Amino acid sequence: MTDAAAVAANDAATLTIRDNRTGSEYDVPITDGTIKAADLGKIRTAEDEPGLAVYDPGFVNTASCRSSVTYIDGEQGILEYRGYPIEQLAEKSSFLEVAYLLIKGQLPTKAEYDAWVHEITYHTFVHENVKGFMHGFRYDAHPMGMLMASVGALSTFYPDARNINDADNRHMQIVRMIAKMPTLGAWSFRHAQGKPFVYPDNDLGYTANFLSMLFKMSEQKFEADERLVRALDVLFILHADHEQNCSTNAVRSVGSSQVDPYSAVAAGVAALYGPLHGGANEAVLRMLKRIGKKENIPDFMQGVKDGNERLMGFGHRVYKNYDPRAKIIKKACDDVFEVTGVNPLLEIAQELEKIALEDEYFVKRKLYPNVDFYSGLIYEAFQFPPEMFTVLFAIGRTPGWLAQWLELVQDKEQKIARPKQIYTGDRTLDFVPASERWG
Ligand code: CMC
Repeated sequence: MTDAAAVAANDAATLTIRDNRTGSEYDVPITDGTIKAADLGKIRTAEDEPGLAVYDPGFVNTASCRSSVTYIDGEQGILEYRGYPIEQLAEKSSFLEVAYLLIKGQLPTKAEYDAWVHEITYHTFVHENVKGFMHGFRYDAHPMGMLMASVGALSTFYPDARNINDADNRHMQIVRMIAKMPTLGAWSFRHAQGKPFVYPDNDLGYTANFLSMLFKMSEQKFEADERLVRALDVLFILHADHEQNCSTNAVRSVGSSQVDPYSAVAAGVAALYGPLHGGANEAVLRMLKRIGKKENIPDFMQGVKDGNERLMGFGHRVYKNYDPRAKIIKKACDDVFEVTGVNPLLEIAQELEKIALEDEYFVKRKLYPNVDFYSGLIYEAFQFPPEMFTVLFAIGRTPGWLAQWLELVQDKEQKIARPKQIYTGDRTLDFVPASERWG
């Protein structure tokens, strides 16, 4: 298209709507492939009638923000953070560098990276009272519940965090949260195991330190196998952001009230907990164990196709192609199993994938493996119990939540989140007091 043609096409970028109730016509501007819902609100049958609204449960076709953090092309199976393909970041970067990229919008210089790593490393300790607080949970508390509560509790330790309009203050809370998430995650694991909490080791890198806080016993220093450290670091990178998913939307929605970032991220952890979101990796592993052996797969698949259950780890709201993260994780399985030995459930997972990719039910609906299909197998190889899987997801997702929160609080177009509803209940009933209703 020539420049002039592009300008003309842009000028013509409007949508003409004819309201057949009134015969009126409206020209609504189209910008970035969207129309403004507020423009539809001007379409009404009478001055005192409510304007036209969009009904979109689950925000299937509604943009809630402008964002430059993450790009996804679901049809092509493309994922980029700040423009960089996930495959390159997973192969050549580190989780803390990716965290910097997401938060700051660009890759760090050497000096910036060193300062960032230093800051994160020296904020990994939590207030001693957090320890007491975490001890208060029941012995069998789900670690995600503990993580959610303890992240929320951090807002009481850092009351200054509510000053969200100060850039330095925001930076401080972001550093604290990225730094302390592994400490809280590891301690929720140790609590369930009845083991003493391990303090952070500032000599170790981010992921190696996390493994130390999880698994260290009486040894002077916990030294994890480098291949395992790298594999977990890659998993954190793959989970670091995924644009406007359920938990990020929760962070943004809660954050739009201008609450402190700990409270907003606690909402993200809560959303991630659910089995249709981050809890899916836990559900995948339970599903694979339930299937047990290859011979049981046909019956299981029939149950899925009959609508009695879901093939967990398959399907995605955005990806209608192979989730690029699933491809990378599938490869990482080999590296991890080289150290830990092969997980026997891998065979069942591979067979399920093979059948599903050829079965008409899945092909027609464009259902492919998502990030959670293979990640659980790796986590299990690390000897994490399934309840810990979503905690690992949450640690990886924290920089993404914070990058999105940062974007939200600086975005002049944003408002407090407040969707409309279509009211379906009764109206203007006369209240009869209980004493009269109950005789
Ligand atoms: N197994 C069987 N059928 C499925 C599955 C599945 N995993 N996923 C979707 N379908 C079917 C669904 O029944 C529907 O069929 P029909 O048109 O006949 O009613 C069709 O595919 C469309 O599904 P949907 O539920 O309308 O799609 P959605 O975009 O609302 O849901 C999803 C997306 C991820 C919640 C869903 O695919 C699902 O429940 N997957 C299993 C759970 C899972 O693996 N979640 C992890 C998602 S990736 C990581 C993350 O975001 O946390």
